[in-house]
Amino acid sequence: EPTTASSPAVAPAASPEPAAREASARRFLMCRPEHFAVTYAINPWMDPDAGADRDRAVAQWEALRDAYLALGHRVELIEPVEGLPDMVFAANGALVVGGRVYGARFRHPERAAEGPAYAEWFRRNGFADVLEPEHVNEGEGDFLVLDDLILAGTGFRTDVAAHQEAQEFLGRPVVTLRLVDPRFYHLDTALFPLGGRNVAYYPGAFSPGSRAVLERLFPDALIADEADAVVLGLNAVCDGRHVVVNAEARGLIAQLRGRGYEPVPVDLSELRKAGGGPKCCTLEIRM
Ligand code: ARG
Repeated sequence: EPTTASSPAVAPAASPEPAAREASARRFLMCRPEHFAVTYAINPWMDPDAGADRDRAVAQWEALRDAYLALGHRVELIEPVEGLPDMVFAANGALVVGGRVYGARFRHPERAAEGPAYAEWFRRNGFADVLEPEHVNEGEGDFLVLDDLILAGTGFRTDVAAHQEAQEFLGRPVVTLRLVDPRFYHLDTALFPLGGRNVAYYPGAFSPGSRAVLERLFPDALIADEADAVVLGLNAVCDGRHVVVNAEARGLIAQLRGRGYEPVPVDLSELRKAGGGPKCCTLEIRM
């Protein structure tokens, strides 16, 4: 904070965010986009006639994985399944907190088989508590985990009943947020956690009541504008210090620098043709 002549002589209240940002090593699950294509349209970003380049998607995805590895994170891989072109969006495959795996149940039949495929990966990799959910939910696409609570999106994909199901299974408070703009159909297209206590978000994606909830919970949130939101800039991954973020989100990147974060810009323009960005490609495994 700059000191000005009008600054009070007494010390201001402690900021909820530390001045020195500290990274912590993460464990991620990713899925190489070997079968990536845009063959159906289940969100406004998808145009089957526009043509998506699989090889380009693979190269961009590899650069994202390499960025995580360079930051010291661990990346595990799930085998891509032919006929599931959106399986690259690993965030949707589950929600993992405290080693417990709350499985996904997709809204659209085109992606239905991904839920069991991800649940099976967890069972085979030693996770004993895997819940095959009763209610429609798209994993970390609509559930974002902070230190003290979980934020949960609804309106397009995940049902509110799943918010309650996840709360009961994981034993963490879940706060429902209503999405109202179809371009931001998953919570992770409109908001991302900055460390475990603050968030960045685009207010226009939320209902008035949910905006009020966000203002109350996060008075120091980073507020992104529409220009950054429409390049899926909010679909970012923060490890406490670094923020892996779409390179086109220039205003957001400048704001992050101003707050002491270290942006790591990536180009995922080919995957954006399916409505996804860096966070969509990344499922965090929290033990
Ligand atoms: N085409 C996918 C869908 O519409 C994109 C999913 C993006 N994933 C995410 N976590 N937002 O379901």
